Amino acid sequence: MGAATLSRPPVGSLSGVSPTTPASPARLVVLVSGAGTNLQALLDACTDPAYGARVVAVGADREGIEGLARAERAGVPTFVHRVKDHATRADWDAALTDSCRGYAPDLVVLAGFMKLTGATFLAEFGGRCVNTHPALSPSFPGMHAPADALAYGVKVSGATLFVVDAGVDTGPIVAQVAVPVEDDDDEQSLHERIKVAERAMLVATVGRMAREGFSISDRKVRFGQ
Ligand code: GRF
Repeated sequence: MGAATLSRPPVGSLSGVSPTTPASPARLVVLVSGAGTNLQALLDACTDPAYGARVVAVGADREGIEGLARAERAGVPTFVHRVKDHATRADWDAALTDSCRGYAPDLVVLAGFMKLTGATFLAEFGGRCVNTHPALSPSFPGMHAPADALAYGVKVSGATLFVVDAGVDTGPIVAQVAVPVEDDDDEQSLHERIKVAERAMLVATVGRMAREGFSISDRKVRFGQ
């Protein structure tokens, strides 16, 4: 999926994403809103040339977050677009899209990015943008997945990596990992346990997407060409 080999499929025809090589690592733009531990896991993985990807920029929807500090410590360029600095949500979406485009990503990774991207972003990056969600989709979409899972009383939750579409956590599933719910869990303890598994899944799966390429057909995401 290196920049030289990625074919850019039109939205709706999500196939033909080519694998990269260690000599031509996939370019990742990562979007964050908070602590950035998933970003850090990717930054750490990308220090190994065999991983097949590198983080070329980190974007955020707010200033002053640890995710941006992690990028700066790693020497990765950053950009910030706050919704409230734009006249409309569509303007914000267009600005976000422009900034991402400027780094020519092969894959955009939403890693704890707490905003829904819009139509302009999807027209540009549909089929090559993934998001990580702290629940086993299709259960518990939205902003409060660990709390919702606890309230429902499930015994197993987990995390899902999916290809972003126009819905809320509804896109084609790339990978999932299950995590047990303990009797004495609260929202924080469950989310922290999920995040440990989520980071490992994210790193392993993005690496495969970069090294092997992937295609999407009838909601099924498959690695390889
Ligand atoms: C992750 O659990 C992600 O799925 C959710 O928010 C968390 C972000 O964690 N949307 P971090 O900022 O990567 O530490």
